[in-house]
Amino acid sequence: MNNAYVHGYHSRENIRLQDQANALVELLHFDTSYPAGSRVLEAGCGIGAQTVTLARNSPNALITSIDISADSIAQAKRNVEAAGIKNVQFRQADIFDLPFGRESFDHVFVCFVLEHLSLPVEALRTLKNLLKDGGTITVIEGDHGSAYFYPDSADAHKAIQCQVELQGRAGGNALIGRELYPILTRAGFSAIQVSPRMVYVDSGKPQLVEGFTKNTFTAMIEGVRDAALAAGIVEPRVFDRGIKDLYRTAESDGVFCYTFFKACALKA
Ligand SMILES: C[S@@+](CC[C@H](N)C(=O)[O-])C[C@H]1O[C@@H](n2cnc3c(N)ncnc32)[C@H](O)[C@@H]1O
Repeated sequence: MNNAYVHGYHSRENIRLQDQANALVELLHFDTSYPAGSRVLEAGCGIGAQTVTLARNSPNALITSIDISADSIAQAKRNVEAAGIKNVQFRQADIFDLPFGRESFDHVFVCFVLEHLSLPVEALRTLKNLLKDGGTITVIEGDHGSAYFYPDSADAHKAIQCQVELQGRAGGNALIGRELYPILTRAGFSAIQVSPRMVYVDSGKPQLVEGFTKNTFTAMIEGVRDAALAAGIVEPRVFDRGIKDLYRTAESDGVFCYTFFKACALKA
């Protein structure tokens, strides 16, 4: 791994990743399915939160899911087994040093990984080498600059900015969603299509209030409290008010909006 993974690997983060995946299955996955017999690489699978959906939507594709974290791979195996899925194999591996030959895969899928890498274009070039000519890459990333909400709160924006700042210091980029087109272009992909996927949450969507506003987004920002205070980038009072205000957007008259970016591109 070429930089520290800002969210860490503790169990609360694993639950958050699962909540995120559950809340977003339709929005992010409805248009991804791979043909029977095709070989698919999922790079940075984590605990398998997306793997289960990928495998269900493409039951006859052969999916290889890798992650740099041995613990995450072990958990991913358990999650996929518990879901009764048989078409996934796991390997612990680093995206920058993968144990596969050139042109081993028909498709590559990468979700919420590039935001943590200091060399995302190099990662994409490495993955491109593993694709056959005519193969595709699908990349999904968020962009924390896309978070807006009612009631608005300067403190909530400051708390979010702590995550952006810390992720940047760790070598990542929490605003990478808007950059998918340029980085895929730089990595040499063609026919790049980026589609913004907006999550809109009000109390008429109680599952998203819980699964996204509270348990995915606000939990993620809340999780950087100690690091943000230790780095001296925010006053404790300001951060805590910001978190309170983010939870306030989950109340009966609150609204929370966020945009993910999903890109598909071709190795010509
Ligand atoms: C936010 S998690 C996303 C996991 C999963 N794709 C999902 O959407 O739930 C990012 C994952 O990327 C992995 N990762 C980071 N750098 C990596 C690298 N160089 N090679 C492989 N995996 C990496 C981390 O270990 C972590 O599991």
